[in-house]
Amino acid sequence: MARGVFPSGRLPLIEAYAASLASDGVVRGLIGPREVPRLWERHLLNCAVLGHAIPDGVAVCDIGSGAGLPGLVLAIARPDLRITLVEPLLRRTTYLSEVVQELGLENVEVLRGRAEELHGGRRFDVVTSRAVAPLERLLRWSMPLVAPQGSLVAMKGSSINDEIETASPVLRKLGCARPEVTSLGEGVVDPQTIVVRVAHADPGQVGLGDARRTGGRTTAKPREPRRRR
Ligand SMILES: C[S@@+](CC[C@H](N)C(=O)[O-])C[C@H]1O[C@@H](n2cnc3c(N)ncnc32)[C@H](O)[C@@H]1O
Repeated sequence: MARGVFPSGRLPLIEAYAASLASDGVVRGLIGPREVPRLWERHLLNCAVLGHAIPDGVAVCDIGSGAGLPGLVLAIARPDLRITLVEPLLRRTTYLSEVVQELGLENVEVLRGRAEELHGGRRFDVVTSRAVAPLERLLRWSMPLVAPQGSLVAMKGSSINDEIETASPVLRKLGCARPEVTSLGEGVVDPQTIVVRVAHADPGQVGLGDARRTGGRTTAKPREPRRRR
């Protein structure tokens, strides 16, 4: 099944990552031993299909990556993406950095910290997450990191419609467009991966200055240079 989902040249990398999660990941308490038999179906393939919701060549920030899900899987499946993994716990960022180095992944940056600490400093085309927080809180953490034309793309469970309902005041307050829910991975994973996408309702209202400060790629137009009098 992995053959249809990962480019053939990346299969050795995803197999090495799977082996690392099943050994080191368990020993270091990053993944439960009961997850090992279902590592491919419930974790690796399930995260890889998220790539179908991400455009080519963009900058992605995966918040709360844990042991690298979905961020590291995307980095392996999609070498065209530039991936930033944001994770506050040292034990987890140490593991992430080691895997990135061991696999020789050149499209990954690992940052230790909370998503909120990047607000006002970085913006990304896509901000992903899995099992990090209810949508209401996820919006507060993620939307300030989303570029004007970008979107939050979060993996969610079957209660997503209830989460959207609960989050409606926050969606309004943050100026979000109506969330779109889709299922990905038909014929690859069962159940399919449920994904919610949230964009800015009015990209023109999204601050431009902060993204330009850090070199985080953004689809925002540069401001007109100030005229000299
Ligand atoms: C349940 S784990 C999920 C890990 C991984 N995404 C997965 O699906 O296996 C939630 C992760 O979110 C991280 N986290 C919690 N609050 C965060 C925040 N404010 N910013 C970024 N990450 C956060 C935690 O340290 C933890 O690694």
